[in-house]
Amino acid sequence: MASGIKLKSEADLKCMRPACRIAAEVLNEIVQFIKPGMTTRHVDEFARDQIKVRGAKSAFLGYRKYPCHTCLSVNDEIVHGLAGDRELNLGDLISVDVGVIHKGFIGDNARTIAVGGCGPAAQRLMEVTETALNLGIAAALPGNRVTDISRAVQEYVESNGYSLVREFVGHGVGRSMHEEPQVPNFVDIKSNEKLLPGMTIAIEPMVNAGGPDIKILKDGWTVVTRDGSLSAHFEHTVLVTDGKPEILTWAG
Ligand code: MF3
Ligand code: CO
Repeated sequence: MASGIKLKSEADLKCMRPACRIAAEVLNEIVQFIKPGMTTRHVDEFARDQIKVRGAKSAFLGYRKYPCHTCLSVNDEIVHGLAGDRELNLGDLISVDVGVIHKGFIGDNARTIAVGGCGPAAQRLMEVTETALNLGIAAALPGNRVTDISRAVQEYVESNGYSLVREFVGHGVGRSMHEEPQVPNFVDIKSNEKLLPGMTIAIEPMVNAGGPDIKILKDGWTVVTRDGSLSAHFEHTVLVTDGKPEILTWAG
């Protein structure tokens, strides 16, 4: 096979499974910790401590000089939001993205929550995004192709009247955070590898309530919707098996 896809052996998975489980546990802890009035810096510091007590390291901190332990993206922020002095308000949407490295392998996952609850429109956006992720995961079957995942996500999201970000995509993940193949959230024949047992991929739809266009803020990281609409993001690291996909970022 000419591609650079790295299939994981059982020995690799002995290390990658715990890394992914830690990423999932830390994400669970963070979403339970978040309360109105907190700053995003406080949330990121909590994340730092939760990663550390599990003997892991943030996979994001220092990656291309990324300055935080997590990505915390609020309301119209899509991904790569930086922690800082911003206080979270009741009803804000916050996308929490956690990647850790442990035993040489990376686990990557994300979830959007409402800070202390939200209205029905924001609730529906989150539900559609999470369901889109689950449909994408269900398509991660051996013999299928990356576009089968992309199509499952795209058809569901667009039939619900939302749009998908194109500039950022899911990805293979393992010893590196971004391995081949790319896993777009829209059908792109340029990314159409066959799925094989042992592939580990991060599937991560980023769904905008309005249009698909983005811009990047002057901090060089924060990606926001161009039209200011809300955005949601759900992500799991998934293993393609001989049968059903295994969600590795599962805290149990
Ligand atoms: N989950 C994101 C990704 O897979 C997070 C990367 S943040 C970065 O690309 F700072 F590390 F780039
Ligand atoms: Co990712």
